[in-house]
Amino acid sequence: MAHAADKISIEDAQKELRELAVRIGEANAAYHTHDAPKISDAEYDALKRRHSELEAQFPELVSEDSPSQKVGAAPLPGFEKVRHQVPMLSLGNAFTEDDVRGFVQGVMKFLNLSESPEFVAEPKIDGLSLALRYENGELVYAATRGDGRTGENVTANARTINEIPKSLRGAPDILEVRGEVYMHQSDFLKLNDENKEKGAKVFANPRNAAAGALRQLDARITAERPLRFFAYSWGQVSEPLSGSQFGALERFQELGFVTNELTKLCQSVEDMLRVYDSITQKRVELGYDIDGVVYKVDPLALQDRLGFRSTTPRWAVAHKFPAETAWTRLEKIDIQVGRTGALSPVARLTPITVGGVVVSNATLHNKDYIEGRASDGSEIREGKDFREGDWVEVYRAGDVIPKLRDVDLSKRTSDAAPFEFPKACPICSSPALQEEGDSTIRCTGGFICDAQVIEKLKHFVARNAFDIEGLGAKQVEQFFNDGWVRTPVDVFKLGENYGAKAERPLERRDGWGPKSAENLFRAVEAKREIPFHRFLFALGIRHIGESAAKLLARNFVTWEALRETILSAQKRSGDAWETLLAVDGIGDRAAEALVESLEDPRSRAAIDELVGVLLVLPDEGIQNSGSPVAGKTVVFTGTLTKMTRAEAKAKAESLGAKVSGSVSAKTDYLVAGEAAGSKRTKAQSLNVTILSEDDWLSLIAT
Ligand code: IVH
Repeated sequence: MAHAADKISIEDAQKELRELAVRIGEANAAYHTHDAPKISDAEYDALKRRHSELEAQFPELVSEDSPSQKVGAAPLPGFEKVRHQVPMLSLGNAFTEDDVRGFVQGVMKFLNLSESPEFVAEPKIDGLSLALRYENGELVYAATRGDGRTGENVTANARTINEIPKSLRGAPDILEVRGEVYMHQSDFLKLNDENKEKGAKVFANPRNAAAGALRQLDARITAERPLRFFAYSWGQVSEPLSGSQFGALERFQELGFVTNELTKLCQSVEDMLRVYDSITQKRVELGYDIDGVVYKVDPLALQDRLGFRSTTPRWAVAHKFPAETAWTRLEKIDIQVGRTGALSPVARLTPITVGGVVVSNATLHNKDYIEGRASDGSEIREGKDFREGDWVEVYRAGDVIPKLRDVDLSKRTSDAAPFEFPKACPICSSPALQEEGDSTIRCTGGFICDAQVIEKLKHFVARNAFDIEGLGAKQVEQFFNDGWVRTPVDVFKLGENYGAKAERPLERRDGWGPKSAENLFRAVEAKREIPFHRFLFALGIRHIGESAAKLLARNFVTWEALRETILSAQKRSGDAWETLLAVDGIGDRAAEALVESLEDPRSRAAIDELVGVLLVLPDEGIQNSGSPVAGKTVVFTGTLTKMTRAEAKAKAESLGAKVSGSVSAKTDYLVAGEAAGSKRTKAQSLNVTILSEDDWLSLIAT
C-alpha cells in the first residue's frame, strides 16, 4: 500500500493550509484594498493552486473562511447543502507493483481466500466526483462530494450536462449513481483561450476548469462549458444493481450512462498489472486526464464483507501513475518548529513547474534524510547529502507535498558546505534532542517555546478540534503576540477580558470592529460544549490523532474516567496502564504520551483549568444501539474458521462492540476459536462468558 512517508499528514496539510490562507489573505488585501500588490501574479497563483490542491486532497479541511470559498472580496452565497445517505469516500493509494500485490494479498488474507478473487480495473479519472439521485426514474438532485458526508446541491448545473440522463427507465425506485465529472483536454484549452481573450479566469488544468464550471451559481454558464460524466459507483439503491462491479457498470450503460471503455475484468494480479501497463500506454491519446488505475474486487458479496476503514474501502485501491519530476536550485534549508517541538527541515526552491503546479517548497523530512540516510541507517541516494545551493530533482507523487529525489553532484560548487542541523531550537534556543528510535529532532522547550505554544493553540482551535469560527491561525498569532491568549483556557476568557466594556476592548483593535468582536465572542461561547473526542484531539497530545481520540472517547465515555485512568497509570504498569493498552489501537507510545500529558504539573493544571470552563460531553460509547453486542467488550482468541481475525474484528466494531486484545474483568465475551489457550483460562477464572465461533455468529445474527 501507500508508503506512510510518501503522504502528507492531515496535521501538516492543515498547518500549511492555514499559512497559505494567511498569505493569500495578505496578498488579497494588498491587491484589492490597498491597490498595491506585494507579490507577482505567478506567485499568487501558485499559492492559490497549492491551497486548492491541499483542499482537494483533504476536503474535510475546507473551512468556511477558506480563500477557496471566496471570489475576490465577496464570499460566494453558496449552494444548499445535501447530506449523503451513504458517505462518499476516497481511495487508498498504491504506487508500485509491490503495493498492488500487497493490496491483493491483504484482501485474500482478510477473507481467508487461497486464490485471488476477480477484480475490475478502471481508469482513475482526474475530475471531481458527483452523486446523482434518482427517485422513480427521475433525477431529484446532484451533489458534489464536499467533505464526504455533506456535499453541495448542484442539480441545476448537472442538468445541463448531456451525459447525465434526466430520467431513467427500468431503474430501481431509489438509485444514487456516482461517477466523475470531467472535461476533455481540447475543450479545456479552448475555454482557456476564450477566457484569456476576455480577461477572465484561466484554469491550471482540466480538473480545475471542470470544478469551476460545476460550481457556477449561474447554471447558464455551466451549460456553456463542455462537461462530461463517467458512471463508476453508487450510493443508496433500493434493490441491488447486480452481483458484481462489472455487472453494475453494464447496468449503468443499459440505463443510459457512459462508463469507461477501458474497464477490464481481471483474474489475477498479473492481469491487473497488464491492464495498468496498457492503460498507461493509451494515456496520452485518451483526450482526457487520468491519474491512475482503480482496482475493485468484483463480487459485491466480497466487497460487502471487506467493508471500509475510516475513510477508504478495503475492496478497492488506486494505482497511481508515477511522479512527475523537474530539476531546480535548492536555495535554502529552513527549520520549522511544530506543535510537538519537531524540527522540520523545509527546502526553499527556485520556483519550478512540476506536473502543472508551481513548486517552491519541498519537505526534507529530517536530519537523516538530508544526510542521505534512511531511519534504519542505510544509505539513500547512494549516501548523497543535500546542501544549500545544490541542483536538485523535485517530484510530486500521488500526494501533494513535493519532495526531493536526487541531487546533481557535478553541479555542486566547491564552497557548498554540508548542512548543519541546529542543535538548539531556532525559536526559543532550548536544546534540540533526538529520542532513541525516533528520527525526529525536537525542541525541548515545551511551554517556553513560543513556536510550540502557538502551534498548539492553532491546533486547539483548528477545524477538527474546537473549530472556532473567526479564530484562525492569523488571529491566534495576533492574540498570542498581544499576550491575550497564552493557554487554551485564555480563549474562553476573551469575552470577559476584552469585551466591549473592558479597558482594552477587542473591538478597538486593528482589523476588528464591534460586530466582528461580538461574533468572535459568540463563536467561542458556542464551543464551550464540546464532544469528548474533539476535546481530547484538541489537546494536541503526541500520537493522539483524531482516530486515537475517538477510540479513547468511545472506550472511556467521559474525560473524568480517562483522566483517572491516566493518573493511576503513572508507574507505566499495573491495572490502569493495562486498561489504556487494552484499548485496541492504543499502543505503548500513545499510552506513554497520555501519561506524560498529565505528569507535568503545569500541563495538568492547564488542562484541568480548561475543563473547568467547558462542558465536555460524554461520548455515546456505543454506535449501533440496535445490535446485541453494542457497547460490549469482546476478545477474540484461538483460530477462527469461518472468518479471519481481521474480518471478525471489523464486523464486531461495525456492530458497536469494543474489541480488546486482552481479557480483564471488563470483558463481556471471549470468542474462543480452536486451540484457545491462556486467554480462555483467564476468562474462566474471571467468569467471563465464553462463546464458540458459532455462538458468536448466531449472537450477532439476532
Ligand atoms: S471509486 C469508495 N472509481 O477518485 C470509493 N473513484 O481517490 C469510490 N475516481 O473520490 C470511488 N475515477 O472522485 C472510483 N473509476 C473510479 C474513479 C474514481 C476517479 C475518483 C473519485 C474518488 C477519488 C478517490
